[in-house]
Amino acid sequence: MEIVIVPDGAAVAAHAAAAMANVIRGTERTVIGVATGSSPLGTYEALAEMVRAGELDMTDVSAFALDEYVGLDPEHPESYHSVIGKTVADQLGMDPARVHVPNGFANNFSDACDDYERAIEAAGGIDIQLLGIGANGHIGFNEPASSFASRTRLKTLAPQTRADNARFFNSIDEVPMYSVTQGLGTILDARRLLLVAQGEAKADAVAAMIEGPVASLCPASALQLHRFATVIIDEAAASKLKLRDYYDHVQHHRALAPA
Ligand code: F6R
Repeated sequence: MEIVIVPDGAAVAAHAAAAMANVIRGTERTVIGVATGSSPLGTYEALAEMVRAGELDMTDVSAFALDEYVGLDPEHPESYHSVIGKTVADQLGMDPARVHVPNGFANNFSDACDDYERAIEAAGGIDIQLLGIGANGHIGFNEPASSFASRTRLKTLAPQTRADNARFFNSIDEVPMYSVTQGLGTILDARRLLLVAQGEAKADAVAAMIEGPVASLCPASALQLHRFATVIIDEAAASKLKLRDYYDHVQHHRALAPA
């Protein structure tokens, strides 16, 4: 795992956007995986600046969102359909037909989830998956005890996740109880993983993800199994890492290492 510790959220966004832009520029018809929540917003804004400056073209890029609430009208401002539409498709000048979000309003969720898996496959798989991490270690909405082999499916949200996400709604009662999320197995199939985290509230989860055992208690520890996983975090999110000095040492010498 590559661990990059930077001073603050602005630097997290700049580094993550640069990493994504490199993949997008270097791959034909790139497929990106996108997350919602607060963590990736700065990264999307930094990418949008590149698009506005004419340094990046997203018109041929496809996107697949990690997850969606179940039972929220797609037009609800907090549905991930709306949020991804605004923060990703519109802001990055993407073709809306190429931007996919799981169906939170399906008649048959099992079929809808299988369709989503097939759509990712038909697009050629995800070249780079952007991730945030929940305070309980979830990625997507793969809550603790999710199988590392899981695929896109319906999940019950953990009480902590509903409480954490209540800030986007009028009250916790409005936060849906269920979600559709890409599984940990789906996420691990992406060719590269890029996780961003800022703030002290993420420090315990970040330490468990990087330095804890690979265990379903911390779903994000699945990143330890991926060949090309990069974690970009600020000082506060890195504050509980035991090998903090070593990660700085590695970053410092990386540029000088033999090819
Ligand atoms: C949402 C998602 C979640 C969030 C996580 C952190 O698509 O994948 O795993 O990344 O809940 O949320 P924030 O960034 O709001 O702290």
